[in-house]
Amino acid sequence: MTRAPRRRHPFAGVAVLLVGLVATGTAFAAVNAGTSAQASGAVASQTQVEAGRQLYVEGCASCHGIAGEGTEEYPSLIGTGAAAVDFQMQTGKMPATSPGVQVIGKPRNYSDDEIAAIAAYVASLGAGPAIPTAAELDFAGADLSEGGTLFRTNCMQCHNFAGKGGALSDGAFAPSLMDVDSKIIWEAMLTGPQNMPIFSNETLPPESKQAILKWIDHLQNDKDPGGLALGSMGPVSEGVFVWIVGLGLVLAVTVWIGAKVR
Ligand code: HEC
Ligand code: HEC
Repeated sequence: MTRAPRRRHPFAGVAVLLVGLVATGTAFAAVNAGTSAQASGAVASQTQVEAGRQLYVEGCASCHGIAGEGTEEYPSLIGTGAAAVDFQMQTGKMPATSPGVQVIGKPRNYSDDEIAAIAAYVASLGAGPAIPTAAELDFAGADLSEGGTLFRTNCMQCHNFAGKGGALSDGAFAPSLMDVDSKIIWEAMLTGPQNMPIFSNETLPPESKQAILKWIDHLQNDKDPGGLALGSMGPVSEGVFVWIVGLGLVLAVTVWIGAKVR
């Protein structure tokens, strides 16, 4: 009796592919984390400030003055700091277009680099709150129940107990917090846009801000009844997860069909 020559296991190909995909995914996530950490810790260079000044003159000076000094109707930006510019521009509120009770966010038409340049220019006009660093925004070690208490004391009266937003007097409103990321929340607290009070690091220390971030993150992820929320791994890991598992499954089926046909 002769034995059939050893055949390669039909799933060997799948295993190799999966290992490859996981490796690429991990490398991608690592590179991605590296660049975002770099961006928030970046020090403004002279060329960046100059590029920002030009963008400022074109897009902002008509209201805020040629050197940020403000005009009769519009506020000065001297001393508002990079955080205010980042907040206003990332949410598409600035440059403002139509006058109204409240400036509303719209799809933004400036790139991240352009926003960073304008923020660096405005920061060069006078010291003000800086864009929070990745370390400041890391709320992993924060106390969730303390965050809930701080949220109910400081934010709930305007943004609703579940963070869903609410109407204020005179047609103004506090927006829902369901889709805002940690950086925007931190910057809103630091700069107090429009009818919102300022929660400086003196009145609300960074540890308390982190607790609030954790609480809002909890509220945001609580709205997933029955869904697979993937904890709070964030969009990058979720993307990588879908990519590896989804694409891996498709490939596994393909290889399996191939093995059957042979
Ligand atoms: C059409 C006029 C207009 C233009 C153009 C405009 N702004 Fe504003 N900006 C306003 C008004 C009005 C406010 C005040 C909103 C409020 O607080 O009620 C404001 C507020 C701000 C604030 C918040 C100031 C603070 O004290 O927190 C920042 C920062 C800002 N603008 C940046 C910019 C930048 C950067 C640009 C250009 C990309 C720009 N704005 C273009 C009208 C304008
Ligand atoms: C007195 C009412 C009031 C209180 C208290 C208040 N906010 Fe606000 N908040 C507002 C208003 C009004 C806006 C809209 C301003 C704007 O968009 O320029 C706002 C905007 C925001 C935004 C930006 C949302 C977006 O989509 O752009 C965030 C984030 C935020 N608030 C978080 C907080 C947190 C966290 C607290 C508690 C520490 C808090 N707010 C307390 C009134 C309030």
